[in-house]
Amino acid sequence: AYEKLWLALALVLIVGFIGTITYGAAGAGIDMIDDKGGTVDPTTLDDHPKFGDPGIEKTGENQYDVYVVTRQFVFEPGTTQPIRVPEGSTVTFHVTAADVIHGFEVVGTNANTMAIPGQVAEFTVEFDEPGEYGLLCNEYCGSGHHVMEGKLVVM
Ligand code: CUA
Repeated sequence: AYEKLWLALALVLIVGFIGTITYGAAGAGIDMIDDKGGTVDPTTLDDHPKFGDPGIEKTGENQYDVYVVTRQFVFEPGTTQPIRVPEGSTVTFHVTAADVIHGFEVVGTNANTMAIPGQVAEFTVEFDEPGEYGLLCNEYCGSGHHVMEGKLVVM
């Protein structure tokens, strides 16, 4: 009889864990829904049609592309001006690096990627609630790594 009790207890714990994980993702109002990528020539990044002047582009009803260049020790955009997207939008991020490997993490969410010179990390995020999120570099990239940060605002 105790075996059944333990089994039931284990099941309750498992369901509880899944609930916590699901609530954690939904509670942040951000959900990273896919992950793919491409390549780019890092030596001509400044002349690239998108990464030469990186920023936000509207691509459809509630649809946006955000191009981000990471470099020692800033996110462009993100550090000197925040990335601003409307509530309820679906945003595809395209993230690359100009010099060394960086990270691009939207703090408190599962939106998180490495930014590697020559590669474009792409992922799509739905922003369901307004709020402010920090951006952090989570790959050691040099003396200013610990101050490499930015902001994302869901309006
Ligand atoms: Cu950029 Cu650490």
